[in-house]
Amino acid sequence: MTQDELKNEVAKTALKYITPETIIGVGTGSTANFFIDHLATIKDSIKGAVASSIDTANRLKKNGIRVVNLNDVDEISVYIDGADESDHNLNLIKGGGGALTREKIVAAVSNQFVCIADESKLVESLGKFPLPIEVIPMSANYVKRQIIESIGGSPILREDFITDNGNLILDIHKLEIIDPQNLENYLNNIVGVVTNGLFANRGADILLIGSPNGVNILSRNKN
Ligand code: 5RP
Repeated sequence: MTQDELKNEVAKTALKYITPETIIGVGTGSTANFFIDHLATIKDSIKGAVASSIDTANRLKKNGIRVVNLNDVDEISVYIDGADESDHNLNLIKGGGGALTREKIVAAVSNQFVCIADESKLVESLGKFPLPIEVIPMSANYVKRQIIESIGGSPILREDFITDNGNLILDIHKLEIIDPQNLENYLNNIVGVVTNGLFANRGADILLIGSPNGVNILSRNKN
């Protein structure tokens, strides 16, 4: 099976996690796009969807799915989104598509986070995928220096890219991530950082992994 076929299968499986008559959250990226296409087949069973990016909002609308403003809803039953990497405790790296801040907000509001990914995304430890950091434009060089001096790695400005919030992205390459939760907190405390792509404080609750043998289901260890 191709990677896209695995993404499509796992996206279809995620429909099982939708509670009818609720508002759901929808992520960003190619796996989330497959999910939107499947969601279109049951669109009348949900009240609407909160989008984690402008691209996702546009795709939802194109499929006739009602897009709702996050400030107009009290509750999101489930958030369905992809990831760039997940470890076995369902800590994630996200933001390959640059939508990390809105994704993190929607994930925070949601009662359940179901992550959907093909098997290449499941790793023993996070960090092979460059960690995205959204920064206020004027702070980019300062944040870069702070990162190099404190935790190392190689932060590189993502070229020709502006986030939906009008900010820049630094991708930290060559980073060994031993304690995702601590690192998430540390990076968020650097002045100028809007948010970083580590989803450890609020990781996924369920991870659906598409493999040629079918979809495997992993749950977060909440001790
Ligand atoms: C976007 C994301 C995506 O979930 C992540 O990049 C995975 O993308 P894809 O489903 O295309 O592999 O975090 O900001």
